[in-house]
Amino acid sequence: MQDLIAKTAELLIKSKHTVALTGAGMSTESGIPDFRGPNGIWTKNPEAEKQAYQSYFKFQQNPKQYWIERMTGTSWIHELTKAQPNPGHFALAELEKMALLKSVITQNIDNLHQKAGNKRVLDYHGNVSLLRCFSCDTRYDPQEYELEKLLAEDRLPPYCKKCNGVLKSDIVHFHEAIPADVSTESQQEVGTCDVMLICGTSAAVYPFAMLPRIAKQYSSKQKTIIVEINAEPTPLTQEGISDYIIQGKTGTVLPKIVEEVKKRTSENKHRL
Ligand code: APR
Repeated sequence: MQDLIAKTAELLIKSKHTVALTGAGMSTESGIPDFRGPNGIWTKNPEAEKQAYQSYFKFQQNPKQYWIERMTGTSWIHELTKAQPNPGHFALAELEKMALLKSVITQNIDNLHQKAGNKRVLDYHGNVSLLRCFSCDTRYDPQEYELEKLLAEDRLPPYCKKCNGVLKSDIVHFHEAIPADVSTESQQEVGTCDVMLICGTSAAVYPFAMLPRIAKQYSSKQKTIIVEINAEPTPLTQEGISDYIIQGKTGTVLPKIVEEVKKRTSENKHRL
């Protein structure tokens, strides 16, 4: 593993545009279960996955009921807001500070990359801490609305201040389109990156799982080197989309890569 860590550190130092794609495996060391790993939410409770597939239809049919359930139900989503970043998140934040990471495109809705300090985060599946207008995609901090009061006075759902459309959680439900702004910016990022780190994802869900394929096929000019950091091989590994996989925990491997980068950059400085 050490040689792959060294190789990845070298790649990052020489890279002009590195992008990190992340999934739920990044947050398991923060106490948030993933979905399809051995202890995943869907692995342990396939019924919960079926329910999740209904959320978007429920919202479209009855936004008021969707909101009442969201505010009165006991869902794992409320637990997310208490979670804290782990060393894997901090390692990616450090790479951005060192100007060696241009952006993070995450499937995670837990806001942990932002809590760890990353400034350029594309929340591909939305963000639990935001609301979004169903019509114009404007996002709001929930604090801008007195949601408890709207519930108590039977005045849900909240409406957009810009276009008066109905608001929903920013979370992208199954069958819901990826918000256009995030989708466009993500495609631009993967189309120009020369190094891509893919951390903690089974790469099972589309269209996110298309992003590494886009990087591989359409990256302009330079060939893109794709490095997976994951507990287990994925379809990206099996199909040769990733150039190599560092099999291990993101909370262990990513800090080791940052350590190696620091070692090499300080050695280079001393040589000058
Ligand atoms: N370090 C590295 N890899 C890990 C770790 C860890 N600490 N913990 C788990 N993993 C791996 C698992 O083995 C699995 O391969 O991370 C991957 C997580 O895969 P999923 O559970 O499928 O999560 P993800 O790929 O993010 O799912 C994508 O599916 O249900 C939807 O919207 C949901 O965004 C989610 C999407």
